[in-house]
Amino acid sequence: MRFHRSRSLSAKPVQATYAILVKEKVVGAARLFPLTDAGRAVEAGVWIGRTHRGSGVGGAVLRQLLDLARAGGAQRLVASTTAGNTAAQRLLATLGASLTWDGDAVTARLNLLDVD
Ligand SMILES: CC(C)(COP(=O)(O)OP(=O)(O)OC[C@H]1O[C@@H](n2cnc3c(N)ncnc32)[C@H](O)[C@@H]1OP(=O)(O)O)[C@@H](O)C(=O)NCCC(=O)NCCS
Repeated sequence: MRFHRSRSLSAKPVQATYAILVKEKVVGAARLFPLTDAGRAVEAGVWIGRTHRGSGVGGAVLRQLLDLARAGGAQRLVASTTAGNTAAQRLLATLGASLTWDGDAVTARLNLLDVD
């Protein structure tokens, strides 16, 4: 909450934060952080409460984030995760992202012009 408040509800917000609702209950948060490079890229992040993981929520949220990013004019999406986070890697790969590994860090990159 502190992380999202400081970045999205401050006087100068740097990113958009979205609450994830399942049956009208907040179960997590998602964010889009525009990167200040020339490639119109945006960084995506998703966090879902443990009791709601593994039932397709993450996939549904990421697809909505792609649509929001595109609607906001982004052309590329990046996301960071770790080597042990199989769920995040599967999710991002299924959406068509290319994954690169650097030690424990995994970076996913997706060209938003290439996906429906
Ligand atoms: C990563 C995260 C967003 C995934 O959300 P989720 O709702 O649990 O994922 P889904 O149910 O949509 O499943 C996504 C894929 O991962 C697989 N998966 C889910 N949980 C898994 C697990 N514990 N181990 C291995 N694979 C798993 C699913 O089978 C699915 O793959 P498939 O489509 O090939 O069947 C969620 O676990 C989370 O919030 N984790 C903590 C924060 C985080 O790591 N965020 C990612 C940074 S972008």
